[in-house]
Amino acid sequence: MKRVSFSVIGIVMWTCLIAPVAVTAGRTADNASPIYGVTIPPGYRQWAMVAPSHELGLHELRVILGNPQAMDAYEKGALPYPDGTILAKLAWKQVPLVEGHEIVPDAFVPGPTTTVQFMVKNSKRYAVTGGWGFGRFIDGKPVDKAQHETCFSCHAAHAKGHDYVFTRYAP
Ligand code: HEC
Repeated sequence: MKRVSFSVIGIVMWTCLIAPVAVTAGRTADNASPIYGVTIPPGYRQWAMVAPSHELGLHELRVILGNPQAMDAYEKGALPYPDGTILAKLAWKQVPLVEGHEIVPDAFVPGPTTTVQFMVKNSKRYAVTGGWGFGRFIDGKPVDKAQHETCFSCHAAHAKGHDYVFTRYAP
C-alpha cells in the first residue's frame, strides 16, 4: 500500500513540476531556427527600410529592414556590421492591383506573405559563419535544417566582400 502511494506521489510530481518545464523548453526550441537558434525579433515590422527588392523568377516583392544598430552602420558606411545588428527580409507574392473588379494595368502590389528571414550579427556565437546567424520563417515557424544549410554558403559566395550582406541602402 505504501509503495503505491509513493508512485502516485511520483506521478503527481512529474505532472506538476517536471513535465511543464520539459514542454516549455521544447516550445522555445520550436520557435528558433535550426543550426543558429535565431527567433523572430519582437517589433521588427516597425524597423526602418534599407531597400526594396524584386525577384522576377519567383514573382516576389521584398523589403529589407534594419534594426537601429543596422541603420546606424549603414549611415556610417563602416564594415563589418557591429554585434547586435539584425537585418530582416520580408517577402510577398507579387499580385496585380485590383480596384473594384478591374485590374489596374502594370500595377503590382504585395499579396500573401511568403517568408520572413533574419540575419543576426554575433561575432562570437556565429564565428564560423562570418559572425551571422540565419533564420527563415513561414507563418511564424522556422523552416527545416536543410534550408538553413544553404544560407551562409550563398551569402559567402556572392557578398563576402560586403560582410556577407547583399542589400545596399536605397537613397
Ligand atoms: C541562392 C542565394 C541565397 C540563399 C541560399 C540565401 N540568400 Fe539571403 N539573400 C540573397 C540575395 C541575392 C539577397 C538580396 C536581396 C534579395 O534578393 O531580395 C539576400 C538577402 C538576404 C537578407 C537581407 C540582407 C542582405 O544580405 O541583403 C537576409 C536577412 C537574408 N537574405 C537571409 C537569408 C536566410 C535566412 C537564408 C537561408 C534560409 C538565405 N538568406 C539564403 C541570396 C541568398
